[in-house]
Amino acid sequence: MNMTLYEIEQLVFAEIVRVSTAKELEEIQHTYLGRKGHLTAILRGLSELSLEEKRDVGERANLLRVRIETALKERLEEFKEKQEERFFDITFPGKKVVAGHFNPLTLILKEIEDIFISFGFSVVEGPEVETEFNNFDALNIPANHPAREMWDTFWIKSQSSNLKSQRLLLRTHTSPVQIRYMMTHEPPFRIIVPGTTYRYEATDARHEMQFTQVEGLVVGEDVTLANFKAVIEAFFIRLFAQKVEIRLRPGYFPFVEPGVEVDATCPRCKKKGCELCKFSGWLELGGAGMVHPNVFDAVKYNPKEVQGFAFGIGAERFAMIKYGIPDIRLFRSGDLRFIRQF
Ligand code: PHE
Repeated sequence: MNMTLYEIEQLVFAEIVRVSTAKELEEIQHTYLGRKGHLTAILRGLSELSLEEKRDVGERANLLRVRIETALKERLEEFKEKQEERFFDITFPGKKVVAGHFNPLTLILKEIEDIFISFGFSVVEGPEVETEFNNFDALNIPANHPAREMWDTFWIKSQSSNLKSQRLLLRTHTSPVQIRYMMTHEPPFRIIVPGTTYRYEATDARHEMQFTQVEGLVVGEDVTLANFKAVIEAFFIRLFAQKVEIRLRPGYFPFVEPGVEVDATCPRCKKKGCELCKFSGWLELGGAGMVHPNVFDAVKYNPKEVQGFAFGIGAERFAMIKYGIPDIRLFRSGDLRFIRQF
């Protein structure tokens, strides 16, 4: 039975969309446009129509033929593209899987923590927003004490309270965690406190406003500065996998007495003198000392019964020495070209 133009139009495009092989497209082409195809039949029958009908039907039939041909062609293209996609050359070199990288700061903290854990230390943390009391007063740095000027401070505008000593700030060192820990624990103990610290100061290749410290605190009945020297030396030897000497120079920190600056022989030039140690053969590691009796008083320990040492070292500095990083600002730059090297 012959189909009308309308019927053909209704069916053919739906079929073209439905099929999924080139062979099926060929069949459609054959069914509608072939020698005995439905549309061909209509075109052939034109001669039997009146002049007017001829013009009308002829035009519509030809238009439909062109549309069908175009649709068939487009669909065939689609099949070809899909075919290409499916083609998989197993000899083609693979794409490297992009893996994430640890920031060298994360790496050095992990190393530092692992070493101290192996020495019997626990890892403790504290908040980056501190009270004035923990950051200063309890550490024997009362208001108006000139020592406060050692720490350029970011103060936080407090909405709730302007009570003295309850003002808030971004901690200028990790030492306030000494206070937090001692107020809630009894000696003896050994802890380290890794954490971010903040100082309001000008930035250059060696100074950042945001940096990382590792605090150490060991309290017991007979803990001495000699113990500290042994611990820090063993730590440094482990971290740099080589023999070093440790040198203690007098230094002032209000929360320790005596206080010392800790130097180690330069691991790069082995004391010969190089750019890293500014040709001195020695590197400054940080500050340390014996916990001040006033600090023990503040946390309600009896300074006659216990004593201890505390130290504070800069984590970025260790990473810079160990991995040869020239500028402290790189750590938090977010620059992937830097991070991807670790
Ligand atoms: N908190 C001191 C600083 O940031 C370092 C330090 C810690 C010194 C513990 C002595 C004892 O400079």
